[in-house]
Amino acid sequence: MLDAIKNYEDVDSWKTIMFLYNAALKEVETKLEILNDEFQHVHQYNPIEHIKTRIKTPESIVKKLKRYGYETSVENMIKYINDIAGVRLICSFTSDIYRLAAMIGNQSDLKVVSIKDYIKNPKESGYKSFHMVLSVPVFLSDSVVETKVEIQIRTIAMDFWATLEHKIYYKFEGNAPSYISHELRECADMIAELDDKMLSLNEAIQECLETKEE
Ligand code: GTP
Ligand code: MG
Repeated sequence: MLDAIKNYEDVDSWKTIMFLYNAALKEVETKLEILNDEFQHVHQYNPIEHIKTRIKTPESIVKKLKRYGYETSVENMIKYINDIAGVRLICSFTSDIYRLAAMIGNQSDLKVVSIKDYIKNPKESGYKSFHMVLSVPVFLSDSVVETKVEIQIRTIAMDFWATLEHKIYYKFEGNAPSYISHELRECADMIAELDDKMLSLNEAIQECLETKEE
């Protein structure tokens, strides 16, 4: 990535970088849509409820570099910030998360840079999601630029919790009274129970349908 921008002045390199992250984001989004369409085509089933994409704002890139203790520079941002391009993949069931993660990981043009499984190991807050950082080749007229994209894969229920928790947490600027943090963790447990129940209901329905067909 650095090679792709070293011949540009500051403002131009910023624009080039944003262009690359946007291109990588589009590629990943299309790949996910194709997987979903294939599932629909082969199994008459959509594992993906919806896909959200976003590019991190300059303010929040600078804030994160500061938090990590790095100077604000284009080099540092490319090197240390993995979620400039971000995809949120909202699935129907927990089982879909692992199925989709495996399919993404198996695509030969994508490299998996890192994986954090906050479903198996939830965060202290109660947060659950499956995170993957990918390196995506962006094909330009005369070169190929490897670009990082972060994918957060979660169920609708996990997304519901994370969205509301984020709002509450921000109001307290990270210093929520302990009873609130405690109740948020309890909500996370309730959400997990709901996901488990929905998954087993879905499996029960599939079995019913299969016995009917026999
Ligand atoms: P940052 O936390 O982004 O500095 O980087 P990190 O390397 O620690 O990444 P991490 O795996 O913790 O995931 C970061 C992203 O996950 C955040 O930007 C959020 O979108 C999400 N996330 C992580 N923890 C929480 C949490 O407790 N609550 C909510 N709502 N979202 C979280
Ligand atoms: Mg973090």
